[in-house]
Amino acid sequence: NKVVLAYSGGLDTSIIAKWLSETYGCEVVTFTADIGQGEEVEPARAKAKAMGIKEIYIEDLREEFVRDYVFPMFRANAIYEGEYLLGTSIARPLIAKRLIEIANETGADAVSHGATGKGNDQVRFELGAYALKPGVQVIAPWREWDLNSRESLMKYAEEHNIPVDYQKAKTKSPYSMDANLLHISYEGGILEDPWAEAEDDMWRWSVSPEDAPDVATYITLTYEKGDPVALDGERLSPAAMLETLNKIGGDNGIGRLDIVENRYVGMKSRGCYETPGGTIMMKGHRGIESLTLDREVGHLKDALMPKYTEMIYNGYWWSPEREMMQAMIDASQTHVNGDVRMKLYKGSVSVVGRKSEKDSLFDEKIATFEDDEGSYNQADAEGFIKLNALRLRIGAGRKG
Ligand code: ARG
Ligand code: SIN
Repeated sequence: NKVVLAYSGGLDTSIIAKWLSETYGCEVVTFTADIGQGEEVEPARAKAKAMGIKEIYIEDLREEFVRDYVFPMFRANAIYEGEYLLGTSIARPLIAKRLIEIANETGADAVSHGATGKGNDQVRFELGAYALKPGVQVIAPWREWDLNSRESLMKYAEEHNIPVDYQKAKTKSPYSMDANLLHISYEGGILEDPWAEAEDDMWRWSVSPEDAPDVATYITLTYEKGDPVALDGERLSPAAMLETLNKIGGDNGIGRLDIVENRYVGMKSRGCYETPGGTIMMKGHRGIESLTLDREVGHLKDALMPKYTEMIYNGYWWSPEREMMQAMIDASQTHVNGDVRMKLYKGSVSVVGRKSEKDSLFDEKIATFEDDEGSYNQADAEGFIKLNALRLRIGAGRKG
């Protein structure tokens, strides 16, 4: 009877809104969130109203997104297939959660989204929805309808009095894009040829490293329990932190990525991403961990990271295994406190200094190449090495 739609305010989801009420004869509730995609969300209200939508939700979720999704993920140093910082993947669980909460508030028994049947996003939305509301009905129009070309969509819009901004349609980017505070992604268009280099004017958030300033930019990030809380001594909210780092990173040509990745549904896809702030945060977090994390804790985290990453990429944020891993990762961050000094220069970001007053495990006295005044007994190393060599020596003595 009622369905909550993840509504961007764009043409596609406007068509979906209409199609849902026509096809299912149900009332449509729209939900539009600002997660830092850089587009105004308020216009979605007028558009929804014009289509006769009565219940319209428009929300600013930027702080929640960074605080409760991006930061927890960065505590794990999560990177998919060695490269991708999961910018789209991590936004879906939040959208799924709000869709379900709104369904509960409005008495809706169904939710709907505009993701295609070929991608990861459908899986993420729907696994989240089922995990949070087991009996929910999911409607994915792209898997059902026959409006499979731009042309048929436009025709549908015209026939159903859905206002089409032709100026916008004409200048529409040839790429399928998705943006939030963590990243912007580009897929499709000429990128479908994995050999073809992206045109330089595709990139929207960063200058190319060639055009970045010839002078390096230095910043200091302060970490508390694994989260960046201050930039050059100034405390920033999670969203403000990421926003600011995006700007600084983008200005220095940092965070561009061009990869072929494995989608959960089985196909390979080529995507380009800009994650300037996230790239800096990843480096900074590794920098402060290197000083404050116990070796075995760090190595165990690293060993489990690909599993945790896979859970997020594949859409299992709202799963017992992800929650279990999160508890472990969060526990590892108790001592991850201190400052990291970083140098940003023409697309690269490097850690040039790190310090932690209370939590550093670095002992200069022990590590020094100079006189350690008896704090480390080099003679101890002989037995340490000999016992570790024992099985190697026994093994080497075996015939054949
Ligand atoms: N391939 C990336 C991922 O699965 C980006 C997906 C972009 N989504 C989109 N609706 N354009 O996380
Ligand atoms: C989509 O198919 O909606 C976008 C791509 C993806 O979800 O992986």
